[in-house]
Amino acid sequence: MNDKKKIIGICGSASRNSGNLAILKFISESEKSEFDFEIIDDLTDFPHFRTELTDENVPEKIADFRIKILKADGIIICTPEYVFSIPSGLKNILEWCVSTTVFSDKPVGLITASASGEKGHTELKLIMKTIQTCFTDDTTLLIQGVKGKISKDGEIKDENTKIELQKLVESFKELTKKLAANTAYSK
Ligand SMILES: Cc1cc2nc3c(=O)[nH]c(=O)nc-3n(C[C@H](O)[C@H](O)[C@H](O)COP(=O)(O)O)c2cc1C
Repeated sequence: MNDKKKIIGICGSASRNSGNLAILKFISESEKSEFDFEIIDDLTDFPHFRTELTDENVPEKIADFRIKILKADGIIICTPEYVFSIPSGLKNILEWCVSTTVFSDKPVGLITASASGEKGHTELKLIMKTIQTCFTDDTTLLIQGVKGKISKDGEIKDENTKIELQKLVESFKELTKKLAANTAYSK
């Protein structure tokens, strides 16, 4: 039996050579014995949100995305800040889910890896709180000056960043276990 946790990693970057994607790959690789980790890394492919398409006539790609989120044991978002906000591609897929409960009570890890990133990180936390995900201070992380911490071939050069990511992942695993136990108890 496969008892690995199904975790979805969402990369908010619109770049091919993304430091945020490198971070998600680092988590995927270091947790491969515990996570069945799927990375969604091209948000530019998703149709633009329209309010009149939120019910039965939702585009297939969005319906598939919602089901993935619903079935996941947890979500890790890793994103840069764009113009003091979260990137439009990330905001778009979250907007598609606001009228649903697919994110409700989901354990999430929230990483903003950017040049500066403070405003985007605050915004990300507000949005994820609004759509009722579960996170703690220990499952959120702001990585500033990300370009200097990751090599061009996607390797994390900064040891402290690796330690911080490992700490976040441990806290995320604890939160995921705790919430799964609560759900089993309430059934
Ligand atoms: C359109 C655009 C807007 C940006 N705006 C910000 C910003 O407001 N704050 C910031 O910290 N970095 C900003 N940056 C720089 C990104 O933080 C930096 O390029 C980061 O490495 C991107 O992450 P990635 O390597 O995963 O693509 C911006 C980059 C782009 C492309």
